[in-house]
Amino acid sequence: MSTLKTKPVLVAGLDIGSTKVSLAIAAVRIDSQSGQRFLEIIGLGVAPNTGLKHGIIVNIEATTEAIIKAKEEAELMAGYSAPSVWVGVSGSHIKSFDSKGMVAIKDKEVANSDIARVIEAAQAVSVPSDRKVLHVLPREYKVDENDGIVDPIGMTGVRLEANVHIVTGGQSALNNIVKCVEKAHLKVSGLVLETLAASQVVLSADEKSLGCVLADMGGGSTQLLYFVNGSVAHSSQISVGGQHFTHDVAVGLRTPQISAEDLKKRSGSALPTLIDEHDSIDVEGVGGRKSRTIARKDLAHILEARAEETLQLIAHDIRNSGFEPLLASGVILTGGASQLPGLVEMGEYVMDLPVRKGFAKPMGPLVEVSKSSEHATVAGLIQYGYEKMKGMGQLETAEIDISQSWAGLSEKIKSFFKDLF
Ligand SMILES: Nc1ncnc2c1ncn2[C@@H]1O[C@H](COP(=O)(O)OP(=O)(O)OP(=O)(O)O)[C@@H](O)[C@H]1O
Ligand SMILES: [Mg+2]
Repeated sequence: MSTLKTKPVLVAGLDIGSTKVSLAIAAVRIDSQSGQRFLEIIGLGVAPNTGLKHGIIVNIEATTEAIIKAKEEAELMAGYSAPSVWVGVSGSHIKSFDSKGMVAIKDKEVANSDIARVIEAAQAVSVPSDRKVLHVLPREYKVDENDGIVDPIGMTGVRLEANVHIVTGGQSALNNIVKCVEKAHLKVSGLVLETLAASQVVLSADEKSLGCVLADMGGGSTQLLYFVNGSVAHSSQISVGGQHFTHDVAVGLRTPQISAEDLKKRSGSALPTLIDEHDSIDVEGVGGRKSRTIARKDLAHILEARAEETLQLIAHDIRNSGFEPLLASGVILTGGASQLPGLVEMGEYVMDLPVRKGFAKPMGPLVEVSKSSEHATVAGLIQYGYEKMKGMGQLETAEIDISQSWAGLSEKIKSFFKDLF
């Protein structure tokens, strides 16, 4: 019998953020008891990035280098080279809008081919040549006079209509992202709206059907994706992210950006009332000045002002969207900046909606991914890619590896992280 280990089917996600690039590699496994397929993240690489602002590449070299670093780290941990990647896109060049399509049902009963044709028809709106369609997301179907249909397959009628939400990106912004990925010797499987990817692993089906907003609080901005009646209804963004919080701390406490970032992460809070009166922190001085000790509450007061402003801007966006009465599941905060303690409590007060923190559902023993909202996008990209591959029948013929045990892998990953931190 051969002792050679077959290479598992791999899926990879690449999140190019304004503060960091993350690349994760997952293996498709089969549960030996239930026979069900599942995804297991076996490699994660993270590298700081300075080459992207508001979703637009401002430095090709820096971004390429960050991708190469993240790729090498992920490959080292996984023990395999990265397959082609599902790449996240977001930022100011993304625009989304509603559209409609209508076709005659071919054989009186709605079939997959009718759905494909009606989606195609809905897409046939004039999209300017400098924009590329990223997603056509069905909102509801109508068969003759019956509307509000989620899955029309098998229904009888003569006319099929689709209401869809179309997401587009700026062609040159997307071209530059693809250029960086290819310069890092990776192939692109597809471009995916980052919030849509994150929503796959962060939101429950109930939350989507009751209506909610996913708010990805990143470095330079906060990206919002609205779900109404189970499907995407709207997307928008706010130009405030974690870097603005750090900047306020640096200015307010007269300390270098690096130590402001460190203070925010280690001792920050959006609610001064949560901080003990007697707690103090050491603040490094700028330009060689001596460090000083201040009340930790003072740091919280600075962060509180920015947190309140950010949450007010989200509340304002929700009110302006017109969807406010349809968002019973409220707001789900994800992304690195959502980790600031007190944000959820303040969010419920400011927005008068339920608020929770969003994490990726676990995909194997790599807890760093499932525990941290910072990695929700990269996990979501993998889930999105996996669903697409399944839809295209790419997994049917593939050999799925069941030989590697979770326990063994867990040790490997644990030791990797011990070395890292
Ligand atoms: N524990 C923490 N508390 C507060 N802020 C944090 C914490 N951890 C990370 N952040 C902030 O999260 C931000 C980075 O978030 P994230 O990694 O989601 O951004 P990104 O994906 O690189 O950027 P973007 O999505 O805007 O392109 C940074 O500004 C960082 O300071
Ligand atoms: Mg991000």
